[in-house]
Amino acid sequence: MSKQNKRFYIKTYGCQMNDYDSAKLEALLLKHGYSRAEEPEDADYIIANTCSVRKSAEDRAFAFLSTQKPLRKKGTKICLLGCMANLYGPDLLKKHRFLDIVCGPNNYKDLPEILEKGGRQSFTGDCADPFLEVFHPPDSSLSACITVTKGCENFCSYCVVPFTRGKLASRPPETILKEIEWLSEKGVREITLLGQNVNEYGRGTETDFSSLLEKVQSIGGITRIGFTTSHPKDIPEKLIGLFKTMPRLYKHLHLPMQSGSDRILALMNRKYTLEKYMRIVDKAREAFQDINITSDIIVGYPGEKKSDFDETCRAIEKISFDDLFVFKYSNRPGTPASMMKETVSSDEKENRHKTILSIQDSISLSRNERYLGKKLPVFMRSASGKKKGFLVGRTITNKPVLIKSGGENLGLVMTAEITKAFRRYLAGVLCDVNRQEKVSSPSRGQN
Ligand code: 5AD
Ligand code: SF4
Repeated sequence: MSKQNKRFYIKTYGCQMNDYDSAKLEALLLKHGYSRAEEPEDADYIIANTCSVRKSAEDRAFAFLSTQKPLRKKGTKICLLGCMANLYGPDLLKKHRFLDIVCGPNNYKDLPEILEKGGRQSFTGDCADPFLEVFHPPDSSLSACITVTKGCENFCSYCVVPFTRGKLASRPPETILKEIEWLSEKGVREITLLGQNVNEYGRGTETDFSSLLEKVQSIGGITRIGFTTSHPKDIPEKLIGLFKTMPRLYKHLHLPMQSGSDRILALMNRKYTLEKYMRIVDKAREAFQDINITSDIIVGYPGEKKSDFDETCRAIEKISFDDLFVFKYSNRPGTPASMMKETVSSDEKENRHKTILSIQDSISLSRNERYLGKKLPVFMRSASGKKKGFLVGRTITNKPVLIKSGGENLGLVMTAEITKAFRRYLAGVLCDVNRQEKVSSPSRGQN
C-alpha cells in the first residue's frame, strides 16, 4: 500500500502545548501524503500524544493504547508519542510488546521518515532544533495557540517537564511572527503564546518576551493576545507594565503559586516567597485594576502539614484569585520530590483539594459579580457549544460571556452589558443590537 493511502489517528492528552504539537504533527503527516482516519479502527497508525505531568494522564493514555492492541493483528502500528516517550525512553519498547513506535516531542520532525522505515523503533531525547516549522490551519478559525519556547530548566522539585521536554529553547521571533501573519490571513483574530515559562523567552539573546508581544500586536488583524505561563520567580516589570499599555493584550495573568507556605515553596524549589508573590499581584492590579489573575495549586506535597495547607487557604482568600486549578500531588519518577517520603494520605489530599475548590467557588462567583451592570467591549470568539443561537465572547480580562447573537458577529469586538454572573462565566446582552432594534422598529419605541 502506498503511503498516500495510509491513515493516522491522533489522540492527545495534557496541556495546550500538546494540542499544538498534535496539530503540527497532523499538518506534517498530511504534507507527506498520509491522511486522517476518523476512528482508530480505520487507521494504519494509532498515535497517542501523551502527557506525564501527573500519573493519571499517563494511565489514561496508556489504557487507550492498550485497548488498541487487537488491531495490531491486521497490521495497525501503535505509536506512543509525547512526554511519556522521553520520560521512559527505549525501555518502553522492551516492556510493552504491543508498541511499535516511541517518539519524544523533540523528534517529531523525523516522524514521517520513522513511519516510512517501519519496524519497531524509538526516538527520544533532546535535539538542538526541536521546533516543527510546518504551519497548520487553526481548529477554530478565530483563535490559535503558538508555542514560543520549548523545555524548561527550572527543576521545580515535583515537576517532570525538565526531564520530558529538555533544555529551554526559544523559537526565533521571525518564524513566530511569520506563522501569526499566516494565521491572520486565514482569519485568526486571537493568539495565545505558549511556553513553560514565557518570561525566559529569548534568554541569552537580544530579544525578550515583552518585545515579542509588542511585535505580535503590530500584526494586522490580530485583535486579542494572551499568553501562558509566567513564573513568579522572574516575571519582569516590563511585562507587567504591558497590561497598562497594550490595548489588545488580554488583562489576564496566569501565575502559578503552587503553595501559600514559604516552607513548602522552598521545598518545591520555586525561588519566591508568598510575600514576593503578593507583591507581583499588587503590581499587576496597579497596572490594570480588574486584571484576571488565575493560578495553580498543588495539595499534598511531601511534608505539607495542616498548618502549611492553612497558610495556602489564607493566601487564596487574601489574594482573591479569579480562578484556580488545583492538583493533588502526583509522584513523578526522576524528580527530586520523588525521593521524598509522601506524608499526606490520598484521603487527606482529596479533602484538601475539595476544601480549596469550595473556597474558590465563592471567590470566583464574587469576582464575577463585580461585572454586573457594566457595559464592556467583548470579543465575539466562538459559537456556544451548549446553547443554540448564542455566542461566547471574551471581555478584555479574558472572562467568557454568553451572548444571544447570530454568527455574523463572530470575530467582532462589540459592546455588551453584563446581566448575569456565574461561577465560571458571565452572561450579557449586546448593546449595539439593542440600539439598532430601537432605530429600526419605531412601534417598539412607543411601548
Ligand atoms: N503533581 C501534581 N501537580 C503537578 N503539576 C506539575 N507537576 C505536578 C505533580 N507532580 C501542576 C503544577 C503546574 C501545573 C501545570 O501542573 O501546578 O503549574
Ligand atoms: Fe515544571 Fe517548574 Fe518548569 Fe513549570 S517552571 S515546567 S512547574 S519545572
